[in-house]
Amino acid sequence: MPDAGRDAVYPITLTDGTATRTREVTPADLEPVQALHRRCSPGSRAQRYHAGKPELSSAGWRLLSDPERGTTLVTTPAQHTDHIIAMTNVMRTDRQGVGELAVLVEDAWQSKGLGTALAAHAAEVARRAGHHTLTAAVAADNVPMLHVLESLDAPPPRAVGRVFDINIPL
Ligand SMILES: CC(C)(COP(=O)(O)OP(=O)(O)OC[C@H]1O[C@@H](n2cnc3c(N)ncnc32)[C@H](O)[C@@H]1OP(=O)(O)O)[C@@H](O)C(=O)NCCC(=O)NCCS
Repeated sequence: MPDAGRDAVYPITLTDGTATRTREVTPADLEPVQALHRRCSPGSRAQRYHAGKPELSSAGWRLLSDPERGTTLVTTPAQHTDHIIAMTNVMRTDRQGVGELAVLVEDAWQSKGLGTALAAHAAEVARRAGHHTLTAAVAADNVPMLHVLESLDAPPPRAVGRVFDINIPL
């Protein structure tokens, strides 16, 4: 793994050859993170939050940007580092050693391998944070995210209504 600390930058090259950079979020990222949310389709936001909100709430941002609550990563094109195209969260849960994974890739940047690469990186981040399991709540019709989690060797999902509660041993 090329990175080892909070200030590290993790490079991912997309299937179309675009170079990207992924790093931990900072308080200064609020506006570009909100812009990412506004550019995402309602469908993508709904798959991420299981609700149709156009932006993060203040409380949501405080939670996701608090290092005590977990790790939030943002991804930019390498040539455009103030333009956030994806956000990845590995948040603590009330279960010791279990981190919750969530990923949001802007629609225009989807299907280029970014979600899969970010999930692999998030698993490494979670291991480093001392987690033994990653959990994710994924809508049963969210085929791309189910494929992403299969790439992490997720066991067959346990259905809770129309949402799969997936637990991946790290
Ligand atoms: C789910 C998500 C993170 C995947 O990111 P991505 O960058 O598109 O992922 P990838 O390009 O790595 O593709 C992942 C897999 O989905 C498949 N896929 C991508 N787009 C697809 C589509 N529109 N329909 C069906 N499958 C698709 C890819 O083929 C790949 O599967 P494979 O590895 O078996 O070939 C992204 O679509 C997203 O942000 N969606 C909205 C938010 C969300 O659903 N978050 C997850 C809930 S926590």
